Formats: sequence, C-alpha cells, structure tokens
Amino acid sequence: MTLAELFEKDTLRFLLFGGKGGVGKTSNAAAASLWAAEHGRETLVLSTDPAHSLGDSFAQNLSGGEAVQIKGVKNLYGLEIDPRKAYAEYQQMAQQPDMEEMGGMDMMGLGDLSDITAPGADEALAFSKVLEYIQECEYDLVVFDTAPTGHTLRLLGLPEMLDSFFGKLIKFRLRMGNIFGRIKAAFGRGDSEQDNSLEQMEKLKETISAARIELSDPERTRFVIVMIPEAMAVAETERLLQALYEFQIPSSHIITNMVFPEVLDCKFCKARKDMQEKYLAQIRDIYDDFTITEVPLFTHEVRGLPTLRRLGKLLATGTLPPLGE
Ligand SMILES: Nc1ncnc2c1ncn2[C@@H]1O[C@H](COP(=O)(O)OP(=O)(O)OP(=O)(O)O)[C@@H](O)[C@H]1O
Ligand SMILES: [Mg+2]
Repeated sequence: MTLAELFEKDTLRFLLFGGKGGVGKTSNAAAASLWAAEHGRETLVLSTDPAHSLGDSFAQNLSGGEAVQIKGVKNLYGLEIDPRKAYAEYQQMAQQPDMEEMGGMDMMGLGDLSDITAPGADEALAFSKVLEYIQECEYDLVVFDTAPTGHTLRLLGLPEMLDSFFGKLIKFRLRMGNIFGRIKAAFGRGDSEQDNSLEQMEKLKETISAARIELSDPERTRFVIVMIPEAMAVAETERLLQALYEFQIPSSHIITNMVFPEVLDCKFCKARKDMQEKYLAQIRDIYDDFTITEVPLFTHEVRGLPTLRRLGKLLATGTLPPLGE
C-alpha cells in the first residue's frame, strides 16, 4: 500500500510519525495532517513531544491546552500537549472534593493520591490526555507528532505501565475498602464515596485497554517512521521497529527525508549524494516489506502552509508540485 493509499484509507483514525531527533517528524506530521484536512477529513494534529515545534511549523501558537483551528484551514485543528500543564491540572482537580465532576476517564478520580510524584507521572498524565483524544475521538483522523525515539518508546509502554499500576491500586483499594467498610459499618456509616472512586479507576483501566486495542489495530492505526539516509538513523530505526513490534503498533511505511538532490559540478554535493545513496540502498534492502517514500532536501526549512502543502502533496501523491503552485 502506498502512502497515498494509506492516507485515503477510510478506516484510518490514528497516524503516528516517529523517529530520531531532527529527522523531520514534525514537518511530515504537519504536512500529512494538512493534506488530510484539505481532502475533507476533520483532522487533529497532536504533538506529544515536550519540546514542541508543531506550532512553529504552522507559525501559530498551539500550546493553549485545547485544540485550536489552524488559521486558514477549515478542517484542521492542532494541539501541543504540555505534560507540566497536565500535571498541574491533575493536582488541582485531585484536591477538589467532588469526584462526580471528574469525568469517567480522568485519573484525577484518585482523590487520595493527589501528591503522586512517581517517576514518569507527568508523562503518564500527558498520555492520559492522549487517551482522552483516542477514546472520544471526535475527529476523522488524529495525526501524532511524537518525540524523538527514546521518549516515544517510553510513552508507548505507558498503557501497560499504567494498566499494571492501576491494577494494583484497584486491588489495594478493594482490600482497604473491605477493612474500612467493616469499620464504617460498625459505626453505622455507608461507603458510597469509596465505591465511586473505585468506579473511576475501573473506568480508567477500561479506557487504557480500549486504547491499546485501537492502537494495535492495523485498520485504524499506523506508525510512519521518518528517517534520514545515514548510518545512525538506520541503527535507531531498528530499535524503534523492535519496540513497535513489542507494543504491537502496526507500521508499514517509512519516509526517507532530506534526500540530497543531484547537483552537477559540485564535489561536496556529489560526496553527500553518494553517501546517502549507499544508505538508501541499504534501507531499501533491509525494509523491503515497507513502503518507502523519498522526500528531497528542500532549499528552505519546511514551515508555513505553502511549504507544508507541497510536502503533503508529495507524501500523498508521490509527486512534488513546483514552487508557487
Ligand atoms: N525535507 C526537508 N528539507 C529541508 N528542511 C527540512 C526537511 N524536513 C525538515 N526540515 C527542516 O529540518 C528541521 C527539523 O525538522 P522537524 O522539526 O520536522 O524534525 P523533528 O524530527 O520533528 O525534530 P525534533 O526531533 O527536534 O522534534 C526543521 O527546521 C525543518 O524545517
Ligand atoms: Mg519535532
């Protein structure tokens, strides 16, 4: 299946872009989301990278905490998820006594864990926001601009981590509930509040399991690997693929970005071109069951709607429209 066919797949709901630092994940995610939106799909482009640059790519502030419309594009919305903000939100909500307000999926239902500082808690909370978008999914397509490999791998592992963390917590609460329930009963008091927070935890566990199913369904989810044709990128792609396989995230497409053009009478250019050609041949050979799309090195950075539109068209159709089109 070409990248174009993947983009046009009706069932596709989640398109993730990932790879090593600086290879063009944000640019390609932004370009793909723009193409999808301009071809009739209500699209959300979501950055899970704490060092955001999605807003830069669209030359628009996307850090407000809510998805906002990309100016000048009808069906496109963008959001950079800020783990620190998600954490602050959580702490504030956890202090509120009324658990009813906290919505089914929020882990904020854990009133007695307001001081949670477990390592990775901020990432986990940011991921809970991502889960929210996966579960509610008001959009036809959600495009993820992910962080460089290491961080993304941790994020992909979070559903399992949270699952077991919450699994243990639920068991613990059940046991404690039994003890406290008996004490309360002895004093003639009910334990409805306790039941409610248990319910919240069960719901969160269900949400996590549902998200796992969504993210591992090849009809609905694809992880597109972005890489540049250089030795280090090849090595890192191996690690990323291994992790995707482990977490059962379907992946079938690779974008080789910043491919050097053919330039006559330039020794430097020829040397770079030859070096890249060597790795491109290697990539084609190793990943022969992947669809590989080559993206040339542009003369300018990829930023703003006109350039993103050109890149989007290249990804979706395989041809780069001339400048100014
Ligand atoms: N094909 C290309 N030609 C020229 N410049 C490009 C190309 N693709 C990306 N760039 C530029 O390279 C820089 C890095 O791209 P981008 O931010 O998309 O990478 P990234 O993988 O998201 O980086 P990070 O790991 O920091 O998030 C940006 O300045 C972008 O405009
Ligand atoms: Mg980026």
